[in-house]
Amino acid sequence: MWESDNDLLGRVDRNRMPRHVAIIMDGNGRWANSHGFLRSVGHTAGVKTLKNILKTAVNLGLEALTVYAFSTENWKRPHTEVDFLMHLFSEYLEREKTDMHANNVRINFLGRTEDFAPALQKLMTDSMQLMKNNTGVKFNVAADYGGQDEIIRATQNLARLVKAGEIAPEDITAEMFDAELDTCGQPPVDLMIRTGGDLRVSNFLLWQTAYAEFWFTDTPWPEFTPKEFIDALVDFGKRDRRFGALNK
Ligand code: FPP
Repeated sequence: MWESDNDLLGRVDRNRMPRHVAIIMDGNGRWANSHGFLRSVGHTAGVKTLKNILKTAVNLGLEALTVYAFSTENWKRPHTEVDFLMHLFSEYLEREKTDMHANNVRINFLGRTEDFAPALQKLMTDSMQLMKNNTGVKFNVAADYGGQDEIIRATQNLARLVKAGEIAPEDITAEMFDAELDTCGQPPVDLMIRTGGDLRVSNFLLWQTAYAEFWFTDTPWPEFTPKEFIDALVDFGKRDRRFGALNK
């Protein structure tokens, strides 16, 4: 098992814990620039942060953790940066998959996969296969992911069923739509965290965050710590969630 900091974990009220936390890991590039490093150094530091946050999620017994590793829009970055991120992603999976498996993590990928190099696609499939029977944290890595793209793919699947005469348009329910999403079978996002100071959603989990609580911090992702992650969870525990209804 990964070692845990029980004082830190003890701050979280287990009865008011989110089931599903999503994170926009932003600020790697700006963090690196502000220290006079190349942007790639920021991404490498970001991987270390991710490792620590996943450990914390495991030790807390969180049900699902989803991280935004690469968006459908990130292909617009310079080739060198895209190549570096792909390399980091492969290296991360190769290096961490055994440890994740030993910690009962179940990895899953959100988004398209077809534009990734065949070797990376195979690594993704093999990692999912390795961990498919694990019962711990559902760890979703969103890679070549866009919320609008996911919604369009789900709509296309339902439209195919309508065209084939298997369902009528008016039969479509929120549950059926949910089942076509990459997060199928997982709880909706309760808490969305964004590091790096920007206050936007950036096309992440548009459907799944319908009633999510948001937590923003100026801390750049490489400096985000398990302590700050716990701060976000403690703050979540104090929120009054009404889901559109009134409190009694
Ligand atoms: C945002 O920082 C971060 C990304 C686009 C990639 C996130 C990637 C990692 C944390 C590491 C790789 C992940 C895995 C799963 C191996 P930014 O570059 O947009 O920062 P900026 O806004 O400061 O430029």
